[in-house]
Amino acid sequence: MHKVSHKNFINTENWSQAELNQLLVDANRLKNDPHNQSLKNKSFALLFLNPSMRTRTSFEIGIQQLGGVAVILQPGKDAWGIEFENGTVMDGEAEEHIKEVAAVLSTYVDGIAIRAFPKFIDWQIDKQDLVIKAFAKYATVPIINMETIVHPCQELALMMTVKKHLGEVKYKKFLMTWTYHPKPLNTAVANSGISISSKFGMDVTLLCPSPDYILDEKYIELAKQNCADNGSTFTISHDIEEAYKDADFVYAKSWGALPFYGNPKEEWEQRRKYQHFMVDQHKMSLTNQAKFSHCLPLRRNIKATDAVMDADYCVAVEEAENRLHAQKAMLMNIFCEVKSGEKS
Ligand code: CP
Repeated sequence: MHKVSHKNFINTENWSQAELNQLLVDANRLKNDPHNQSLKNKSFALLFLNPSMRTRTSFEIGIQQLGGVAVILQPGKDAWGIEFENGTVMDGEAEEHIKEVAAVLSTYVDGIAIRAFPKFIDWQIDKQDLVIKAFAKYATVPIINMETIVHPCQELALMMTVKKHLGEVKYKKFLMTWTYHPKPLNTAVANSGISISSKFGMDVTLLCPSPDYILDEKYIELAKQNCADNGSTFTISHDIEEAYKDADFVYAKSWGALPFYGNPKEEWEQRRKYQHFMVDQHKMSLTNQAKFSHCLPLRRNIKATDAVMDADYCVAVEEAENRLHAQKAMLMNIFCEVKSGEKS
């Protein structure tokens, strides 16, 4: 294992392609050799402010496979609700303040991982990612992002899967397509999808129904810059046939239109027109024999058809498995004292 020098894993913006690639090399090694004691005597608090199946299971099992201990907390459910505003009169639901929560947990555990989805009221507030930033500010141990407005662990699993199937990924066409869902969902996985594919030099196409569904400018600019750095292309399309044409990897996700953020009824009036964005066999037939994936969970015959989900080219379950291996590699890199070249 080659040690990288980051304290936290909050996003991948400041991680180089080489550093991220090293995590993927380590992840592939762990896939073949899953058990070791590199997190022996290390403990972790996993805080879920939102539901999870894959993230919760893969983190808890992964830490156990490396000899560590994980405690799962659901603030507001099985743990006290947390206040994140400073100077507020705490006469609402929250029983304690982030300052005490972060400080106390830092005395118990070696790392804190957080899932904190946006509130879906005001994007200008949500886009600041204040919950995880507050943990990073007030905790004295490393902070791991289990999905906020980005999903960096999913990024690792996605790129591990893409590389497995495409080999050299540079200049291969990565299609990040919006797909239908009855609710306006988080943009995190889409932000992450265009970030990691562009960082690895893929030609990235973002397909969405209309300009209203274009992602936040921060992630568009990040992807454009990554592509410019790699000499690859970044394209925004509203044309389904053109976007799918010759794609090498199709990644689907639904998300809410940012201009209607906090107004789900108005957003629905837009969204309901776009049910035909569901991924189906005809769309996949336009590609360069592409693999298809989705971060899961996925509503069948809403986001993608049964035929797509059951096809050999669907690698969504493999990507979900890779969460386990990639997260273990990330945790070993952040929490172990292994020096470059030493066997983990
Ligand atoms: N992809 C993902 O994060 O799955 P969960 O929401 O089940 O954790």
